[in-house]
Amino acid sequence: MSANDLPQHLPLSLGPGRVDVWLMSPDSLDERRRQACLDLLDDDERARHDRYRAPSAQRQFLVARAVLRTVLSCYAPLRPADWRFDANGHGKPRVADRLGLPDLHFNVTHADGLVALAVSGLPEIGIDVEHLGRSMRSLDELAERHFGPAERARIGRVADEESRTQAFFDVWTLKEAYIKARGLGLSMALESFDLQWPPHDTDGRSVQLLCTAACGDDGARWQFHRARPTPHHSLAVAGASRANQRFQVVTRWVEALQAGRPVLEGPFPGMGIAG
Ligand SMILES: CC(C)(COP(=O)(O)OP(=O)(O)OC[C@H]1O[C@@H](n2cnc3c(N)ncnc32)[C@H](O)[C@@H]1OP(=O)(O)O)[C@@H](O)C(=O)NCCC(=O)NCCS
Repeated sequence: MSANDLPQHLPLSLGPGRVDVWLMSPDSLDERRRQACLDLLDDDERARHDRYRAPSAQRQFLVARAVLRTVLSCYAPLRPADWRFDANGHGKPRVADRLGLPDLHFNVTHADGLVALAVSGLPEIGIDVEHLGRSMRSLDELAERHFGPAERARIGRVADEESRTQAFFDVWTLKEAYIKARGLGLSMALESFDLQWPPHDTDGRSVQLLCTAACGDDGARWQFHRARPTPHHSLAVAGASRANQRFQVVTRWVEALQAGRPVLEGPFPGMGIAG
């Protein structure tokens, strides 16, 4: 079986209220697996891959695209290498219209040590991960310039440096996930919306989006999910649900991509057996 064979025991189904999050470390790629991932890419992706100068960024891109293609093949009868993508006017990648799969949506993010993918039936879906050790100019200055009043107050309440950095990235990833779900990229002003949640919220379900007129949105449409998938990463998902139905997030760790399937870490019935 080659890396481009169809998965078995599939397709996975996405109910209207489901967001599937797939995680993989980009650092576990040996030369044989790197070549198998490269074989899945189309010409544009290969050209982008070749343009990366930093090996770590190149590996993140490669793994993200290989995971995306392999995971999407768990939801629809298409081989990993056969997916075609286009993008909206702000560069948000999506499944190409001509494939005729209107209810399959995704968003990808990558950071040092982690690639994450959200797959959903919700058209407006966004995901972001950040490495908590990522060096930034000045967190306080960035928060001052780009965060809303509730977000700044959250950071301001935290005294010690480490917790402050974590609080910063908790806000940052949620903001990025929302911007990515809207698909507007940097054309959207980060300070045009504010996120707040009570101290007891640990998974993002109580996060509220407060929009200014410049944000051009109704905050009540939105739901959030946040997590620490590793001790070094903060992750957030934003989704606009239909009819206020709470979405459920199912998270899976991918250990490797093999025989056209994701091999999962830990038991998961019906999938994850290396072919
Ligand atoms: C491109 C952007 C959407 C996200 O970039 P990022 O956080 O650096 O990178 P991520 O790894 O999270 O996401 C990159 C992926 O998002 C996807 N993407 C690209 N444009 C997108 C858009 N307009 N909307 C949603 N997703 C997009 C792509 O799949 C991209 O991966 P690829 O280039 O390998 O295909 C853009 O919003 C950005 O550069 N944001 C950073 C701006 C900032 O200062 N944020 C501060 C928050 S407080």
